[in-house]
Amino acid sequence: MGGLHSISKSICGKSCKRNDYERPNELFQNNRLPVISEQEKIIIVESWKIVKTDIEKVGIITFTNLFETHPEVQNVFMSFRSKDTSDLEYNHILRAHALRVMGTVDKCIYRLDNRDKLRDLMMDLGIRHKNYTVKIEYIDLMGPQFISSIKPHLENMWTEEHERAWENLFQLMCYYMKKGMCSI
Ligand code: HEM
Repeated sequence: MGGLHSISKSICGKSCKRNDYERPNELFQNNRLPVISEQEKIIIVESWKIVKTDIEKVGIITFTNLFETHPEVQNVFMSFRSKDTSDLEYNHILRAHALRVMGTVDKCIYRLDNRDKLRDLMMDLGIRHKNYTVKIEYIDLMGPQFISSIKPHLENMWTEEHERAWENLFQLMCYYMKKGMCSI
């Protein structure tokens, strides 16, 4: 339970009691809307061009790592229950979801200068994830796994600025996704 507690901390920015998981609106209240600088936008667009050439592999590694580090997330995918991660790697549903996540990242990058469209896209996705019974505290797990799976593709060009730029992009995407989840 300690793991989930620290996840909820990152959502609400303060210590939460266990039953706070049942109160997503309160968890979301103190969430910060991240700012992405012009320089960070350039970094994201340029590095995405490289990552995109191996988009399926990056997607699969992101999800495999997510299930290995947070096995409880696996239960959400009903069809994945009782399977181990090596089986998952070849599961077509997993591949499809991994690609959909990558597709969403792509759409958000092209909407970085159109914040209303980015917000609407991610809020609608958040609403649908609430209907898929995904817990709000799971949403923030995706960014760190994604970042560690793109790093090897960018080899020597990876800097602290890349790390911050991609963290900010995911925080922005997840901010609106969680906002959508809290709106219904
Ligand atoms: C940044 C984070 C995420 C993004 C961008 C994302 C994106 C997507 C997209 C584009 C779909 C296709 C269906 C639709 O558009 O409604 C989808 C479906 C789904 N997602 Fe996510 N997702 C994210 C995180 C998660 C997490 C953390 C979980 C599980 C804990 C999850 C579970 C599901 C499930 C169960 C479905 C429906 C079934 C399926 O398509 O396999 N998603 N997601």
